[in-house]
Amino acid sequence: MRMYDIIEKKRDGENLSKEEIRFFIDGYTNGDIPDYQVSAFLMSVFFRDMSEAERAELTTAMVESGDQVDLSAISGIKVDKHSTGGVGDTTTLILAPLVASLDVPVAKMSGRGLGHTGGTIDKLESVPGFHVEISSEEFVDLVNQNKVAVVGQTGNLTPADKKLYSLRDVTATVNSIPLIASSIMSKKIASGADAIVLDVKTGAGAFMKELGDAKELAEAMVSIGNRVGRNTMAVISDMSQPLGNAIGNALEVREAIETLQGNGPQDLTDLCLELGSQMVLLANKVDTLDEARDRLAENLNNGKALEQFKAFIASQGGDSTVADHPDLLPQASYTFDLPAEKSGTVSEIIADNIGTAAMMLGAGRATKESEIDLSVGIVLRKKIGDPVQKGESLLTIHANTSAVDNVKDKLYASISIADEAVEALPLIYDNIT
Ligand code: URA
Ligand code: CA
Repeated sequence: MRMYDIIEKKRDGENLSKEEIRFFIDGYTNGDIPDYQVSAFLMSVFFRDMSEAERAELTTAMVESGDQVDLSAISGIKVDKHSTGGVGDTTTLILAPLVASLDVPVAKMSGRGLGHTGGTIDKLESVPGFHVEISSEEFVDLVNQNKVAVVGQTGNLTPADKKLYSLRDVTATVNSIPLIASSIMSKKIASGADAIVLDVKTGAGAFMKELGDAKELAEAMVSIGNRVGRNTMAVISDMSQPLGNAIGNALEVREAIETLQGNGPQDLTDLCLELGSQMVLLANKVDTLDEARDRLAENLNNGKALEQFKAFIASQGGDSTVADHPDLLPQASYTFDLPAEKSGTVSEIIADNIGTAAMMLGAGRATKESEIDLSVGIVLRKKIGDPVQKGESLLTIHANTSAVDNVKDKLYASISIADEAVEALPLIYDNIT
């Protein structure tokens, strides 16, 4: 087999066989096939697309290019959740203990990563003592005992995806549905989950800004998951404005605690109940979505979800008293409110720019080497559709410097106030199964 022929076939819009896809992924991973040939191949895929069968084969080949996490020692159906990413997305911090409170095992592998705020692990590390440096055996034991644990990424997972993603980044081939879908799904599948709930975001703060593109990506990922034997569904949710109110690491942990107490922001609570009930259903713990939702809502209100959070934090060395005393979390030295410049209705809060402002305060990493300030960030006081009076606070900035004029400018430029009434945005657009 020759890579030349595989490129030519895809260039002409033909479907590749399983063997051809394996040959390409194996050869690229071990260095036999050079970047220039793979660049040409990726551009052919960009223009010619891939069939559902090809996408599934590509994903499987990428999964098998490296290590795979074996969760078989954990009893029950392991359901993972993946979000395509957004601003202030605090759902994992809430969903992990919430879903575990119904005895669904949550074995979460998570990352630090780049972005507006840290990843789930960074956020959790704002709890004094909490750590994710646990062995694979301990991880499995913790999930079996407590139903929930979070561990950092270990092993050499999907090396083919790492190489392909770097090459796509410099060849203008990132934005291709078959390539994005196989990239995301290969990592989820290699992480060992039996079933997967996807939260595909759409809007200004999302990777897929248009609803149609988000749906297409969701359908592609659901098809791959189901074809490779992992029960998969997707929720398409809004990310035009940030989710919830808090954007920042310790600030999001506080928001997660409030939500687990039943006092969280409405949108964040609703999305967690939606994603959580889909997870509980895929785990076969209930017969209907309504039953799942009722039982999860009950555990937010009766303290069980919060108890589960405390047990989880304590089991990984963290100080679980933060759940009752969130002031023990890192706090910034200064807070500043952003007064509305006119009266009206909030009509736009551009999620991306709010995220950038949080990053300017130090909440996120620009490069892998950057240090995160866990205490800083932004707490929104108003969301789209809310009425506001001139002078009223739109949001609160938490900073460790008093020089925040550039951040304020950025924030003012990201929030619009209309004279007329504005409808609140839908939170969930669609479910794809
Ligand atoms: N995120 C991924 O993991 N892969 C992509 O291709 C795009 C976004
Ligand atoms: Ca949030």
